[in-house]
Amino acid sequence: MKIIITGAAGFIGSNLSKKLLERGHSVIGIDNLSYGLERNIEEIRKHPDFEFVFGDIANPLILKDFHSAVIVHLASQKIPRYTNALRTLDENYLMLRNIVQKCILDKSKIIFASTSDVYGKNPHVPFHEESDLVLGSTTIKRWAYASSKIYGEQYIIANHEEYGIKYTIGRFFGSYGPNHNLTWWGGPQSGFITKAFDQEEIEIHGDGSQTRTFTYVEDTVSALVHFIEDPKSDNEIFNTGSNPHEEISILGLAELIWKLVNGKDTYPKLKYIPYASFGKYEDVMRRVPDISKLKKYFGFEPKYSLEEGLLKTIEWQRKILGK
Ligand SMILES: NC(=O)c1ccc[n+]([C@@H]2O[C@H](COP(=O)([O-])OP(=O)(O)OC[C@H]3O[C@@H](n4cnc5c(N)ncnc54)[C@H](O)[C@@H]3O)[C@@H](O)[C@H]2O)c1
Repeated sequence: MKIIITGAAGFIGSNLSKKLLERGHSVIGIDNLSYGLERNIEEIRKHPDFEFVFGDIANPLILKDFHSAVIVHLASQKIPRYTNALRTLDENYLMLRNIVQKCILDKSKIIFASTSDVYGKNPHVPFHEESDLVLGSTTIKRWAYASSKIYGEQYIIANHEEYGIKYTIGRFFGSYGPNHNLTWWGGPQSGFITKAFDQEEIEIHGDGSQTRTFTYVEDTVSALVHFIEDPKSDNEIFNTGSNPHEEISILGLAELIWKLVNGKDTYPKLKYIPYASFGKYEDVMRRVPDISKLKKYFGFEPKYSLEEGLLKTIEWQRKILGK
């Protein structure tokens, strides 16, 4: 099958491209390298069935000459914690609009990268796909990201109803692993691992009691493969995460990573960053997926425990940073 991937030089995009090529698909990967890296696609760029297109997906002409059965739309702005909300809202909308228009024109299916952040402050975990999406005030810019993804989901479903495009929406829960961005953009694992290598203070936002459930990227990718290859995924939303019993606090994650890097009897140096330093900010206190739908539809089981995934990630990061 021919598949277009937006954000192919990014973290999930590069891992997915590699997996799809291994499975015999051909991949057209588009990225403007705003957050992705050439390094991430260096190996697959030589593959005869991979074509890389450098360009901005907010430009409607970029896709003009490319056609595919499926478009996996991963390119995105993320939580505006350190940046502005307007960019998140504007770019996520512009990109999605172009991709949806393209899907209508070419009769392609869209696979959309949504996020666990859409569940927002809903205190009732684990989150099921039909759970309420509970966001805070619009004066708190961190919710711009979840809003853009909720809008995206509604926009896709409305276009399905109006124009019949097929879709699958994956709500990703904290994916991590090789090729994740080594700045704050890449999530807590990448920063914590680097600090643990250097025996420097790990920054904890708030008191670190907020919990997450993280997914090793190979598990995220294997769910995406089902969305691409299995028609049972058509016109459905799936929590795309790991086992709910792997819920861990951010403080617990810092401790675990430090021990895996520096030895089991060591304890991390920590620096607590008050939420107030992000301006008007709200965090999600618990984030746990119910993945029973993914299991029921595809027999999906996450293959990697948190510790196994972290060990592989640490190994990759050690190599990349020469530590
Ligand atoms: N990684 C996670 O844990 C996670 C969790 C929830 C949701 N998601 C969603 O999954 C998707 C992929 O996430 P990721 O972690 O791989 O992010 P990433 O930033 O590593 O990858 C996204 C890629 O899109 C590219 N891009 C951004 N804007 C572009 C534009 N206008 N034109 C062309 N390319 C552009 C970036 O350069 C980057 O390479 C995103 O939509 C994200 O919101 C990820």
